[in-house]
Amino acid sequence: MFMSTTRITRGRRLSRTHRAIGAGLAGFLALGGVTALAGTADAATTLASAASAKGRYFGTAVAAYHLGETAYAGTLDTEFNSVTPENEMKWDAVEPTRNSFSFTSADQIVSHAQSKGMKIRGHTLVWHSQLPGWVSGLGATDLRTAMNNHITQVMTHYKGKIAAWDVVNEAFQDGGSGARRSSPFQDKLGDGFIEEAFRTARATDPDAKLCYNDYNTDGVNAKSNAVYNMVKDFKARGVPIDCVGFQSHFNSASPVPSDYQANLQRFADLGVDVQITELDIEGSGTAQATNYGNVVKACLAVTRCTGITVWGITDKYSWRASGTPLLFDSDYGKKPAYDAVITALGGTPGDGGGGDGGNGSTATCTATYTRTADWDSGYNGQVTIKAGDKAISSWSVPLTFASPQTVSTTWNGTPSWDSTNTVMTVRPAGWNGQLAAGASTSFGFTVTKNGSSTAPVIGACTAS
Ligand code: XIL
Repeated sequence: MFMSTTRITRGRRLSRTHRAIGAGLAGFLALGGVTALAGTADAATTLASAASAKGRYFGTAVAAYHLGETAYAGTLDTEFNSVTPENEMKWDAVEPTRNSFSFTSADQIVSHAQSKGMKIRGHTLVWHSQLPGWVSGLGATDLRTAMNNHITQVMTHYKGKIAAWDVVNEAFQDGGSGARRSSPFQDKLGDGFIEEAFRTARATDPDAKLCYNDYNTDGVNAKSNAVYNMVKDFKARGVPIDCVGFQSHFNSASPVPSDYQANLQRFADLGVDVQITELDIEGSGTAQATNYGNVVKACLAVTRCTGITVWGITDKYSWRASGTPLLFDSDYGKKPAYDAVITALGGTPGDGGGGDGGNGSTATCTATYTRTADWDSGYNGQVTIKAGDKAISSWSVPLTFASPQTVSTTWNGTPSWDSTNTVMTVRPAGWNGQLAAGASTSFGFTVTKNGSSTAPVIGACTAS
């Protein structure tokens, strides 16, 4: 059981009653592991489960490139229930040359998210940045056609799969003018381009929520007033818009505004949902934790604030890595900010898996599954166990198999079965329990399909 070393050491100093409570707690935690693998996540010990308990989603920006990294995918799958492709759906990624679309990397994120039952935010259809050169070279008529074609093609490709699209991103200028930002769209098509983009988007995928997304609009100021007036006008004239995204990139030069909640609320009062779409807060320790907690509280205080997305999982891959602005450190350890978010969501930090609480005291591991062979009547699976940033002396991982599959052989691991014969918990084979920090081992098994080829559900890896 993880934390056992700490517990036993402490237990020696505790009274018998306290030791009994400790044992009871260990039993409860073990049970929690079994629940998680059956697909019902332990209540409120992860970002996703704590947010769900409040009727919100908790998402992160994801880069397709990192999905093959065990700790990255493990933390994503354990902690989050919504994803936003960080770059893969931007214009330069999906339509690098006119009318030639490439969806490979974005598709990877979408299938990963779908296989885990996560929501997907589409980001973004019309934006002045990460825009290929051919777009800015077009004249007005061609540009209008290209913009509508881009929206139509991309949204059609993902039709039915995207919960919300950032239809237009960052169309307003910073500063006190409240003016539109200069861009090929603004300069050649005029103010009407935003409305046109939203109308095309609605016609293409009527089930997707359509958002306007921007930064420096998090508090009440000239820029957010301009966006507010646009949304108000859209609602008054029946231009389709469902949500406004507040990027919320914060640092000492751009702190969390004191009127953050009031600003979210005034937009919500216009009859749109509001979402925190790219949250990151530079800093560390208690100061960063307090800021994160305050952002979460602001969202929870606004009924129409439907979810929060942080702009990345780990500090090491953040677009602002030097500011360490995320919830997990470079080793996927949970930072104080993580605990503050869970606490603000009403959850209990400490046993959700995927990190070590940032203080280095807990052994952790991740488990990744691959199908290594497949034939008509059966398949072979392999699970790789990787130790977190502390050495571990043992591990266990539960696998739930779809009925009527049976497991005929297991190697490099010791299986035990639950009473329903669907959950196989695998522990070390005797020689592969001890792993140095970051080291891996694998076990394998053969499944008889009996008609079902469904992959097993891999529960959280538990280390001690
Ligand atoms: C950033 C990505 O995080 C970087 O990887 C990329 O190099 C630049 O774009 N506003 C947005 C996001 O809407 O798309 C931006 O993402 C950050 C600012």
